[in-house]
Parts: sequence; C-alpha cells; structure tokens
Amino acid sequence: MATVVSMINMKGGVGKTTLTFNLAWYCAWKMRLRVLAIDLDPQANLSQYFMGAERYLRYIQNNQPTVVDIFNEPRSSIPVHDVPDFAGITLHLIASRLDLAWSLIDPKCKIGQILPQSLSAINHHYDLIIIDCAPTESLLTTAAYNSSRYVIVPVKPEFLAAIGLPLLVKSLKKYKEINRNQKLEIAGIIFNDHNKDMSPEEITSCRSVRNIAENYGWKVFESTVHRSRSFAAGSRERQPIFNTPRARTDVKYNFDKVAEEFLKAVKLR
Ligand SMILES: Nc1ncnc2c1ncn2[C@@H]1O[C@H](COP(=O)(O)OP(=O)(O)OP(=O)(O)O)[C@@H](O)[C@H]1O
Ligand SMILES: [Mg+2]
Repeated sequence: MATVVSMINMKGGVGKTTLTFNLAWYCAWKMRLRVLAIDLDPQANLSQYFMGAERYLRYIQNNQPTVVDIFNEPRSSIPVHDVPDFAGITLHLIASRLDLAWSLIDPKCKIGQILPQSLSAINHHYDLIIIDCAPTESLLTTAAYNSSRYVIVPVKPEFLAAIGLPLLVKSLKKYKEINRNQKLEIAGIIFNDHNKDMSPEEITSCRSVRNIAENYGWKVFESTVHRSRSFAAGSRERQPIFNTPRARTDVKYNFDKVAEEFLKAVKLR
C-alpha cells in the first residue's frame, strides 16, 4: 500500500509545489519508487510543472480528466495521467484545473470523503502518493488530511514565516478532535529557499519556526533546500533540480540530502 504524504503550509509561496515536484521525481527516478502526484490546488501549478505550460493548456482545452472529475463523478475511473518520462521512468499525475475551486462551493460534493475513497481503489499500485495542497484551508485540506498518513511542512525563512504554522496547528487540532482514529502525523518541517548568509530577519524567522516546532514536538529536517534560481528554471523546463545542468553541485547535493531525510521521515526507507 502506498504511503500518502501531503505538502501543507497555510502560508503561500513557501515551496510546496516546488518540493512536491522535485521529491516526486527524486523518488520515482533515483529510488525507483512507484509515484503518484496529486495536484489539489486550483492554481494547478504542479500540473504545469509536470506537463509544461503549453501542454497543460492543451490538456485543459481538450477537456482531459483532472481531479475535478473525481469529485464530480466519484464512481468513474481515476483520472491518472502518465507524465512524459525521462530515462524510461514513469510517474503518474492527477492534474488539477481552476474549476476545482467551484467543487468547493457545491454543497452536494462530499470532497472530504471522496478523495480517500477514490485513492483506496488505486493505492496498491504505488509506493508513494504525494499531494500538493493549496495555501488556504478548505474542504480540500480535509480531503488531504483524510487521505494522508503524513504531512510535510515546507517553510521559507522570511518575514511572517511562522504565521502559517499556528494556522496549521489550529487546523490539525480541529481535525483530530473530529477524527480521533485517523493516523495523521507531521513528518517534519523542511526549510526551503535557505541562504548560507542569512539576514537578521531570516535568522529571527528560523528561530521562531524552530520554537513552534519544539513546542509541538515536530521534527525539523537537518538538511535544508538551498536558494537557487535553478528551481524555477528547472520547473519551467519540467526538470527536477538533480537533472538541471545549470544547477550548482551544492544545491543538488543539499536537495538529495533533504530527499533522503524525507524518505526516512515518511518511513519509505
Ligand atoms: N529553493 C528555492 N530557491 C529559489 N526559489 C524557489 C525555491 N523554492 C521555491 N522557489 C520559488 O518560489 C516561488 C514559490 O514556490 P512554490 O510555487 O513552490 O510555492 P507554493 O508554496 O507552492 O506556493 P502556493 O502557496 O502559491 O501554492 C516559485 O517561483 C518558485 O520557483
Ligand atoms: Mg503551490
């Protein structure tokens, strides 16, 4: 059975999608795991990272299946899309589209229950199912919690970095009160966009994030994902960081370390 991991932070722009994309490729390519990535954000950035912007646009214009179909027609087959692979490695994606936002306002749509039920039908085909979440709390967050064993929290060391964490604490607390039997753990906080020469602002924000993590007994990954423009360039070219020729060796090395810690944190190693 697959281990299901959600990438969540109630703060936007911290690297949830970037890390989902790179960790998914790392696990599929370097570890030869069977990986399914799910884009659970109406912004559909993950879908565009995997497919490329133009191909994604054609995909949507041709009304190809997305996660919205799971919610609209729960009994239909799961809309898994083969990502054009590298070196013979196949990775699967359930894409998203903007209309996902509308599923949220349909009172008939039981989003929270439908996703885990649908995934349980295909779970055995994968080792890892990784879900990229939107930065705002909604029924989609509940769907992600209901489907997941672990939550990973990407954090950028910046002003207001600690803001998303209390919201996540509150959200998880509320969730656990209602779903006492659900096994769901924070597997760790990953510092992303980490700079060797940190400004006083960044040092302060790192400290406050660590304090919150300590208070709640959450693990903070020892390795950090370094700041590099190659993450954006790589995503634009559908390339994970370890396959981007222009990325510096230390950036790749540090990402590999984070990925190894990720595998241990979610008990895949
Ligand atoms: N380590 C990094 N170094 C430099 N830039 C980065 C790094 N990680 C992410 N970025 C950039 O930061 C921006 C936000 O990243 P990303 O889209 O992954 O965040 P997100 O948390 O998914 O955002 P949202 O909350 O909107 O879904 C992107 O332009 C991305 O390329
Ligand atoms: Mg995102």
